[in-house]
Amino acid sequence: MSRKLIAGNWKMHKSVAEAVATIDAFVDMIERRQDVDVVICPQYLCLPKLHEVLHRTHIDLGAQDVFWIDSGAFTGQLSPAMLKEFAVTHCIVGHSESRGRFGKLEVPKSTLSYFGETDETVNLKTKALLYHSIAPIVCVGENIDERNEGRTDSVIRVQLGGGLADIEGEEMTNFAIAYEPVWAIGTGQTCDPEEANRVCKLIRDWLVENRPGAEAVRILYGGSVKSSNSKELLHQPNIDGALVGGASLDAKEFCEIVMSA
Ligand code: PGA
Repeated sequence: MSRKLIAGNWKMHKSVAEAVATIDAFVDMIERRQDVDVVICPQYLCLPKLHEVLHRTHIDLGAQDVFWIDSGAFTGQLSPAMLKEFAVTHCIVGHSESRGRFGKLEVPKSTLSYFGETDETVNLKTKALLYHSIAPIVCVGENIDERNEGRTDSVIRVQLGGGLADIEGEEMTNFAIAYEPVWAIGTGQTCDPEEANRVCKLIRDWLVENRPGAEAVRILYGGSVKSSNSKELLHQPNIDGALVGGASLDAKEFCEIVMSA
């Protein structure tokens, strides 16, 4: 059984001071669970300060997105090499919010290019992260219409095929895939643990069939994970951890989720 990985996705929340205060409130408790891998993904401007705060702990630092080129005329972007400067070890890629899919809040078509993530850009970003030895956390997941139309499994397979194109299983030693049904993100509507386990198994089976050597990949569940449901989710045989949004902003909630792993 692999070690569980609990990643906190803080999204566009918390000033630097608030981020430090939250870490201060949970660090001692989480340090007692050395058997669980923990990553905090704050907004970019928190990275330098949190690097200072976290480097003596077993809590890793993650980013929420990245561009795939090292440097150049790409206004507003940030490269894996820049993340490395602050010892960023993990990076979320292809989050449904970067893909312009906010569940009930699907964005207007005219704004899609602002978010603009496709399976192709997920693939470019994932390859760039691997090149720089930063562990990708690649997100996949269906929206509510796709689920209601019975297309969940095919949507996941297409996202895996596109996002992981030309990446060998042997390259995926430090790697996570997060199953995040779009309809469960930020809605309080958690996926039924058995169904989450089924889709995580589908991802595992896809890897066995298509990416030999990728046995070490951890498969996470994300979407309204909180302390009241984390134990049941994290004890499913095919769920190796959680990507936690809203509940990771609260020190006590996040601590309890880590303790339940
Ligand atoms: P949530 O977000 O836990 O607030 O649903 C999860 C995510 O977006 O990664």
